[in-house]
Parts: sequence; C-alpha cells; structure tokens
Amino acid sequence: MKKAGVALLAVAGVLMFGCGKTQYANVDMPPKRVKVIKDFGEDASKMLLKELKKELKTALKTKGPVGAIEVCSRKAQAITQEVAEEIGDIQIKRTSFKYRNPNNKPDEYEAQALKFFEETLKKTGKLPPYYIQKVDGEYRYYKPLKVQPVCLTCHGDPKHMDPKVVEKLKELYPEDKATGYKVGDFRGVIRVSIPEDVIKKSCL
Ligand code: HEC
Repeated sequence: MKKAGVALLAVAGVLMFGCGKTQYANVDMPPKRVKVIKDFGEDASKMLLKELKKELKTALKTKGPVGAIEVCSRKAQAITQEVAEEIGDIQIKRTSFKYRNPNNKPDEYEAQALKFFEETLKKTGKLPPYYIQKVDGEYRYYKPLKVQPVCLTCHGDPKHMDPKVVEKLKELYPEDKATGYKVGDFRGVIRVSIPEDVIKKSCL
C-alpha cells in the first residue's frame, strides 16, 4: 500500500517539460503561467522570510532564546497573515510533517508537496527549488526551507539544546514534533496560494 502511494507520487511529481525548461508541477502549463506563479510565490515567501528573520534576530539579541520562543509563538502566525494581506489576493502558510504548532499541520495537498520534496531530495541529493500545484480554483506555490545553524537553537537535538529552551517549548507546545533536525535537513515549506482567476488575469 505504501509502495503504491510512493509510485503514484512519483507520477504526480514528475518533472514536466515545457519549452525545454524543467517545470516542477503537478500539471503541464505554458511557461508564461509558470513564471507568473513563480514570481508571486517567490515575492511572497521572500517577504515572509525577511519579516520572520528580522523578528527572530531582534528577539534572540534582546531577549535570548527562551524569550525569542515566546516572540515566535505570539507573532509567527500574525506576521504570516500580515504579509499575505499586504500583497493581497493570496494566502500564506508554513507547514511541515514535523510541525510545532498544530495550526501548521499539512492538509492532504500540502502532504503531497512535502513528499515530493522529500522523495526528490532522497533520489537526487538536491532539493528542487519550488513546486507548483493546481488544486480547486487555486495555484499553490511551495518554497522549501532548509535548516541553518541558527535554527538548531529551537529545532535541534533536545540533548544539545539549552534545557530552558526545551522546557519552554514543552510548556507552549506539548505535542511539538519540530526537534531533532541537523543543519541542511529539509525543514518544511512556505505555501503561497493564488486564486486561479488572478493568475489568468496576469497571464493575458
Ligand atoms: C527562538 C526559537 C526558534 C528559532 C531559532 C527558530 N524557530 Fe522555527 N519555530 C519556533 C516556534 C516557537 C515555532 C512555532 C510558531 C507558531 O506557533 O506558529 C516555529 C515554527 C517553525 C515553522 C512552521 C512549522 C511548524 O513547525 O509549526 C517552520 C517551517 C520553522 N519554524 C522553521 C525554522 C527555520 C528554518 C529556522 C532557522 C532559520 C527556525 N525555524 C528557527 C521557534 C524557533
């Protein structure tokens, strides 16, 4: 059963070719549409990453790791919504198989995208730069995230983490799955959803 699932995914995640360029998508699309979706997705995810990193850096510097957890925990969801509202017409979410906040749990389509990144990384040793999915009335752009050294403060092996950080995480996220990572691991994705009619208008 599991094997059949993986085989199906390999088909769904097949690298499609349009005009000689590789497209990482679950449907074949004209290159112009891919470009519009990629531009939307990249702009939104870069903006979100910039805001989150700014917040994280300041919090780590001024409040230390335990205080920074509280900042992340209070602000990450709000910052994500604010960036989406600022751009307009889109939705943004961060998600991972090993999620910390249950709000970030992947839905069925997000799980397919996460599998696509995991499987391709396993097969080729490289993370594809993006993945596009067409689902009911919207296009979803996924940007993969890798673990960097600073992330280990809160997502590393609990044995090597500050015990106060471990304690705070347990208090705020009793079901936390987001530890045990190493530098370079695939951590999860940023998902940017864009309504189909917005893309169609931009492609005219
Ligand atoms: C100061 C501690 C801290 C650091 C450092 C940190 N995170 Fe997190 N991370 C958190 C907290 C707390 C959450 C839960 C936020 C929420 O409630 O939405 C989280 C959530 C996430 C999520 C959303 C999915 C989930 O698990 O809920 C991703 C993706 C993520 N972090 C990636 C990273 C990456 C990549 C780095 C390094 C660049 C990093 N984090 C550094 C504390 C941290």
